[in-house]
Amino acid sequence: MTILDGKKVSNDIKEEIAEHVSGMKAKGEKVPHLAAVLVGSDGASMTYVNAKVKACERIGFESTLIELPEYTSEEELLEKINELNTNDDIDGFIVQLPLPEQIDEQKILMAIDPDKDVDGFHPVNVGRMALDLPTFLPATPYGILELLERYQVETSGKNVVVMGRSHIVGRPMSILMSQKRKAGDATVTVVHSRTKNLAEITKQADIIVAAIGISEFLTGDMVKEDVVVIDVGITRVPDATKKNGYRLAGDVDFASVSQKASYITPVPGGVGPMTIAMLLKNTLLARERRS
Ligand code: GUN
Repeated sequence: MTILDGKKVSNDIKEEIAEHVSGMKAKGEKVPHLAAVLVGSDGASMTYVNAKVKACERIGFESTLIELPEYTSEEELLEKINELNTNDDIDGFIVQLPLPEQIDEQKILMAIDPDKDVDGFHPVNVGRMALDLPTFLPATPYGILELLERYQVETSGKNVVVMGRSHIVGRPMSILMSQKRKAGDATVTVVHSRTKNLAEITKQADIIVAAIGISEFLTGDMVKEDVVVIDVGITRVPDATKKNGYRLAGDVDFASVSQKASYITPVPGGVGPMTIAMLLKNTLLARERRS
């Protein structure tokens, strides 16, 4: 069994980008500038956004963190987005999800200039992705493709089961892996909360992407020998033995599934760090497209 080490691969990618940025600086070019908008103070979202901003600093990007209170109105957030769209110094920006309930997520995502939408969530960019046109790929699915590619996991003709149909992970993942591309050309099945005989389907899978949002849902009896398992889940599970009172769990029961898997991602240290690396890659692309 091989661990798909997202931490290591993401560090390799960040080093590659850092080198590129040094070259830009040496030539007197403007370095990429990412802005992140965080509304409210959800603990997990704060952790993710801070990690994104810190990663920018480490590789030589400029970054701006915009923190807005939980009670921010939709109108105020739209105004902030308009500012970022028109600020020539900002190459790309993200609005961290989820948003408080008074704000319509789709309305917000549609307000972002598609050329600065480094999350790849704007309908124009989702459409471009679905039509195999060049665009910003959503960072988590993009990170999974990159991880499979760098470990030379064969995907062509394989049965891939994507668990979950979220706009951020499941839906784009299922589209990307069925496309003619590296880490693609797969036969993709999407399963979700209404799927019948789910374990019968997962047992047929050569590759499983678990993004269902239920901790330790996928167990060893639901997979076949030598399966490749990508765990996208990250949930805080109460654990009295830990100092902070919780442990991080994925959607996969690592102990039982890793007994059968040929490749598996750990949580933490698998998909999470890859998401950040690909966001940086998209920001670099945004900068290059603008120059
Ligand atoms: N919330 C969970 N994942 C993501 C992501 O990739 N981007 C944004 N903006 N919000 C998220």
